[in-house]
Amino acid sequence: MAWIMKNSATAPVARRAEPYLDEATKALLEADVIPRYPTRRASTLPVLHAVQDRHGWLPTQAIEEIADFLGLKASEVLDTASFYEMYWLQPKGKYLIMVCESISCELMGHEKLMEKLHHKLGVEVGETTKDGKFTLMHAECLGACDTAPCALINETLHEHLTPDNIDALLDKLP
Ligand code: FES
Repeated sequence: MAWIMKNSATAPVARRAEPYLDEATKALLEADVIPRYPTRRASTLPVLHAVQDRHGWLPTQAIEEIADFLGLKASEVLDTASFYEMYWLQPKGKYLIMVCESISCELMGHEKLMEKLHHKLGVEVGETTKDGKFTLMHAECLGACDTAPCALINETLHEHLTPDNIDALLDKLP
């Protein structure tokens, strides 16, 4: 494995006039989240979640606003967000499909599901369809090994999947 270096220091930041962390969200966080932690820094993860839940991902402008809100450097917030897989630093599709690739699902047809999804969506793992509807990812065991193979689509677990039923399932999503 090789580390890929990115020159973030001079990379242009896409900005919009409207903040990602608006006053209403700040007030909610001040009331419900910040008091639960010993320091503002300690609330970084839930604050990242709150902003990501609202916008679907964490643009650099949002990272800067969160840093400002918590009294941290933007680089510290970015370090934290980039460490965890659950935070998205690039836009993801309306539907995040996470197909389990652990042992039970592997034995019960994970590969055929992935073939179907690659073919149907025209994307590789980690990519989003051109229309922004689907992002395809792998997942580790989803805790439903007895109903393998499984996948999460956003927050919903789908079990006993086959190439045909996942095809039909995706066709039904608006
Ligand atoms: Fe896939 Fe456990 S191995 S849910």
